Amino acid sequence: MKIFIDSGDIAEIKEAAAMGAIDGVTTNPSLLAKTGKPMRQVITEICQIVDGPISAEVLATDCDGIVSEGRQLAQLHPNVVVKVPLIVEGLKAVRVLASEGVKTNVTLCFSASQALLAAKAGATYISPFVGRLDDLSEDGMQLIEQICAIYSHYDFDTQVLVASVRHPIHVVQSALLGAHVATIPFKVIQQLAQHPMTEAGLKKFLEDSKKIPQG
Ligand code: E4P
Repeated sequence: MKIFIDSGDIAEIKEAAAMGAIDGVTTNPSLLAKTGKPMRQVITEICQIVDGPISAEVLATDCDGIVSEGRQLAQLHPNVVVKVPLIVEGLKAVRVLASEGVKTNVTLCFSASQALLAAKAGATYISPFVGRLDDLSEDGMQLIEQICAIYSHYDFDTQVLVASVRHPIHVVQSALLGAHVATIPFKVIQQLAQHPMTEAGLKKFLEDSKKIPQG
């Protein structure tokens, strides 16, 4: 499973890249607003750090506007993936962008039927939001299971990109279900590496190492 970092924070992205943990980056307007910098500047900076798919979200909500914004974003760098909301106008735009060879990430997916339509439209990635479903007492991972099953029955090329990840169990479950990608906040990437037994074991080894005779 590929791992993307879900962030617009350059320091976080650099640290995760240095860990060898990430294959790409996803952003959204809320994450970019936190940077206080213009969107295109942040996306261009990210493209210089990570050599993989970098999702940048359109703000238009009509087909022509999404297509036009998507074409402009795609020109920023060959790795840019245009993130499009899962609305009817978005699906129409995905179809046009796909016909032009522009990669798309269809975002704000909350149902299997939406994911089916995104694949039919030619989306490169579908982003089901598991954490936001869990917040509503719905099982986010069940949606991933459904989408993976549907896509595998029909050989769709669309990749399942698990989004709105909140904790390491989401990541492990995504991998077990065969999702293609999970996009993960930096804090959760750090949590993936941590285990109290590792820390306790290392502490003991370092303490014992002081008892080894110097030679
Ligand atoms: C990623 O593409 C999504 O924008 C992101 O994972 C949403 O996460 P959130 O529900 O924690 O805001």
